[in-house]
Amino acid sequence: MAFVAVARASEIPVGQGTFVERDGLALAVFNAGGGRFYATGPICPHEDGPLSEGWVEGGAIICPWHGFDFDLVSGACGVDPELAVPVYPVRVRDEVVEVDLP
Ligand code: FES
Repeated sequence: MAFVAVARASEIPVGQGTFVERDGLALAVFNAGGGRFYATGPICPHEDGPLSEGWVEGGAIICPWHGFDFDLVSGACGVDPELAVPVYPVRVRDEVVEVDLP
């Protein structure tokens, strides 16, 4: 595991996400506001929607296709408890968002 730079904090608008690929791993990285950033898998487990094109609402990401929500911290789905997305530790250093890749 190692923290890897994935984006400048200013590149991701508050409430939105971006798609990132690093070291062969695809991620969705979200800006929840207040300097809080989160990283998840980029694919919605419902019907493979593009989670990085979703948005942050409360403590969850909303999938743009059918509106399923996924907790930013746990990855658990609020609609279907059988579904979840992987989540990765994130830190911000010198305005650069870094994700701890497995
Ligand atoms: S594909 Fe994401 S909610 Fe359906």
